[in-house]
Amino acid sequence: MTALFTPQLPERDAQEITPGATHVPNWLTQEQQKWIVGQFREWVQGPVPIRAAKIRGHEMSVRTVCLGWHWQPYRYTRTATDVNGARVLPFPDWMIRLGRHALQATGHDTATIGSYTPDTALVNFYDANARLGLHQDKDEESRAPVVSLSVGDTCTFRFGNTESRKKPYTDLLLASGDLFVFGGPARLAYHGVTKMHQDTAPEGCGISRGRINITMRMTGLDG
Ligand code: SIN
Ligand code: MN
Repeated sequence: MTALFTPQLPERDAQEITPGATHVPNWLTQEQQKWIVGQFREWVQGPVPIRAAKIRGHEMSVRTVCLGWHWQPYRYTRTATDVNGARVLPFPDWMIRLGRHALQATGHDTATIGSYTPDTALVNFYDANARLGLHQDKDEESRAPVVSLSVGDTCTFRFGNTESRKKPYTDLLLASGDLFVFGGPARLAYHGVTKMHQDTAPEGCGISRGRINITMRMTGLDG
C-alpha cells in the first residue's frame, strides 16, 4: 500500500484556481484509481449502505457513503442515525498518508502537512444526472484543507468565492485521477458540481460509468 501511494514527482500541471485552491490533473495513476474503485465497492456494502441524504425532505441526486464520521445534513455523527443506526467504517490509514501526499503536491508547508490527520471522508457517487448545488464545507470545526479525489466520468466543477454563490467563480473539469485541494483563504469557498459528462470515464480507471468523488476532511471533533 505504501508503494501504491508513493508520490509521483514532478506533479503534472498543477494550477492554482484561487489562492488556497489547487487543481492537479491526472494525479492518481490508473492503478491507484482502480484500487480506490475496489475499495469503494466494499464501502458501499456497509455496515452503512450508500444513500442519498435528505435535505429538507428532498433526496440529493448524489449518493454518499462515509468513512470515519458519518455526515448528515448538517452535522457529523459516529453512527448513521439518519440511515440504519450503524457505526460507519473506520477512516483508513492509507487515506491519511494519501491526504498528506496531496498537500505536498499542492505546495503546503511542512507544519500543515505534518499535522494533517483527516478523520472523515465523504465518498460521493454521481450518475449522469446527478448534480451538487453550490455550498460551503462548513460542518467541520477544523479549517484544515479539504482534499478531493475523482475517479470515473468527468464533471464540471464550479469553484467560487467565500461570500456568495454568485460570481466570481471558475468552472473547471474534474476528470478521473484529478486532485483538487482547497484550504487557507479558499477553505470556505462555495463550490459544487454543475454537470456530469456521460461516457467520459477512461478505460482502465475501474468504473465504466458514473463518478466517484472522495473528499477527506478533518472534523476537529472528539469521540
Ligand atoms: C463536495 O463538494 O463535497 C464534493 C465535490 C465533488 O464531487 O467534486
Ligand atoms: Mn463540498
